[in-house]
Amino acid sequence: MKNLRGRTAVITGAGSGLGRGTALELAKEGVNLVLADIDLAGAEETAAMAAAAGVQAIAVLTDVAQPDALEALRDVAEARFGPIDILMNNVGVLTGGRPEDLPIAEWERILNTNLLSVVRSIHAFVPGFLARRSGHIVNVASTAGLYAYAFDRGPYAASKAGVISLTEGLALYLKSKGIGVSLMCPGPMPTNVGKSLRAFGAPLGVRGPGADYVPVPPQEAGAMIVATIKANGFFVTTHPEPLFKRLRARLEDWNGFVERSAADIAADPNYENRQ
Ligand SMILES: NC(=O)c1ccc[n+]([C@@H]2O[C@H](COP(=O)([O-])OP(=O)(O)OC[C@H]3O[C@@H](n4cnc5c(N)ncnc54)[C@H](O)[C@@H]3O)[C@@H](O)[C@H]2O)c1
Repeated sequence: MKNLRGRTAVITGAGSGLGRGTALELAKEGVNLVLADIDLAGAEETAAMAAAAGVQAIAVLTDVAQPDALEALRDVAEARFGPIDILMNNVGVLTGGRPEDLPIAEWERILNTNLLSVVRSIHAFVPGFLARRSGHIVNVASTAGLYAYAFDRGPYAASKAGVISLTEGLALYLKSKGIGVSLMCPGPMPTNVGKSLRAFGAPLGVRGPGADYVPVPPQEAGAMIVATIKANGFFVTTHPEPLFKRLRARLEDWNGFVERSAADIAADPNYENRQ
């Protein structure tokens, strides 16, 4: 989608972080915005910031974990702006705990919020894109869905691996029909995502993907997404070098990669055996 001016985008989780950062970058391109969030005040703040860039923007109170929320969002968006051109499924929440401590209900909550919400969004928006043979979908996953660097993020990592898999399949289906599909796998960004973290069982330290992942500001990541939409690209990440280094090492020797990662974790004084 080369020319974005005058188009309309729907973004979930637009009240903070990457959703806000992408909204502001799309606003610079002249894209009108439907900003959905469970935090209405946050979405309204993003809308005011986008409006200052000269586009029309509305905030819509949305809980993507609810069964009918995405259809309701589509109806509000279309009533205000007509057909939607860009859809960004961006909501993601965190949980933590050893595998035996994470309750099944928590697995269900995370898979519902992070993965099934994307499925429901596809159901709500893709028929319109197919009818018009145009549109662009951006799904936000994580480097955590591409390889494991910790053992306490099972539901989150599995939900993101699911988003990665379904997005790749979606691209195979939609690209020949004139509809763009992009997969954003961010590494660390300074956002409010940590505030969503619920932790179960005996405390653990926080283990990130590695010291060579230098956090990228969310608006910078948003600019990468906008460039990917314009180029009709599929994969985009904030941290190509550290990510590809690990993925290459795993591809060459998956057994060795897991051995080394497990040994590294066992020796980490700030994680399982923190003082
Ligand atoms: N920040 C990082 O380091 C990082 C790394 C990799 C992937 N990600 C992914 O990036 C995406 C954006 O996260 P972020 O870092 O900007 O976090 P954030 O917490 O700053 O923003 C997420 C927004 O989603 C909203 N939200 C949460 N639950 C919701 C729900 N049920 N319905 C509607 N809105 C809801 C929150 O209110 C918040 O405004 C997520 O999918 C996250 O998993 C983030």
